[in-house]
Amino acid sequence: MTAGIEVRGLTKRHPGARPDRPALQDIDLEIPHRRFVSLIGPSGCGKSTLLRILAGLEGHDAGSVSLLGESPRRASRRKAIGLVSQTPALLPWLTVRANVALPGKVNRRSGKEVDPPDELLRAVGLEDAADQYPHQLSGGMLQRVAVARAFALRPDVLLMDEPFSALDEFTREALQYQLLGLWQRRATTVVFVTHSVREAVVLSDEIVVMSARPGRVHEVLDVDLPRPRDKDIVKGPHMHDLEDRVRASLQRAWKAGAAPDDLVPL
Ligand SMILES: Nc1ncnc2c1ncn2[C@@H]1O[C@H](COP(=O)(O)OP(=O)(O)O)[C@@H](O)[C@H]1O
Ligand SMILES: [Mg+2]
Repeated sequence: MTAGIEVRGLTKRHPGARPDRPALQDIDLEIPHRRFVSLIGPSGCGKSTLLRILAGLEGHDAGSVSLLGESPRRASRRKAIGLVSQTPALLPWLTVRANVALPGKVNRRSGKEVDPPDELLRAVGLEDAADQYPHQLSGGMLQRVAVARAFALRPDVLLMDEPFSALDEFTREALQYQLLGLWQRRATTVVFVTHSVREAVVLSDEIVVMSARPGRVHEVLDVDLPRPRDKDIVKGPHMHDLEDRVRASLQRAWKAGAAPDDLVPL
């Protein structure tokens, strides 16, 4: 098993937060390279914080984090990490093609191999929109461009923070399959944050269920559905069993977390 992401005893306190309520406490995670892992859990359990730490955007207070044997900051400098957030940040004055080509242009001297933008756009079904500008696209199309752009530098690790949560069910499903197609071709490790149980099951090899206050790993569930995940597989009875297991685990995780400070018990 190649070590992909290794997190040991990770604890993170945001400045000014209550000392007894770290955003993340004692997180242990081991994600083999090329796996697809989802993080799911109640709001405020630290999913985004964990992703930002993995991306090298934030430090931590205790424990260790390594991506392919490197620190997140080093992996990030080497452009080994791709990040897709909830709202796609595209440059409005550039065409779709130019937006997807941008990481390659900016990092030309890094020596990284880059995928041609048109090929990436084809993989997300957007070859016809290459010459359009972001304001001409729907939310689903914008998110597709963001996914294509994230793959441009062939990242070893792709971090996605609720990338499809603002989309309608139909668009979301289409994007899930396109993402799986790209992931399978590119052999990237993906850490995917979602609120949707179904989405987590459809996409993942493993689902990390987190509990809140403090943010901890509650349980890690295996998703033993065959790949590629076609529509028949995700309609089958085993899919529903898995969804039920994740829901039950989420409920236990929710009970395990301390009550939010802003919720007064009835
Ligand atoms: N920059 C910050 N400063 C202080 N507290 C923060 C900051 N970012 C997040 N938090 C707190 O850390 C906890 C985890 O937040 P977050 O990682 O955004 O959770 P999630 O993504 O699971 O909803 C929350 O209690 C949140 O209020
Ligand atoms: Mg979040």
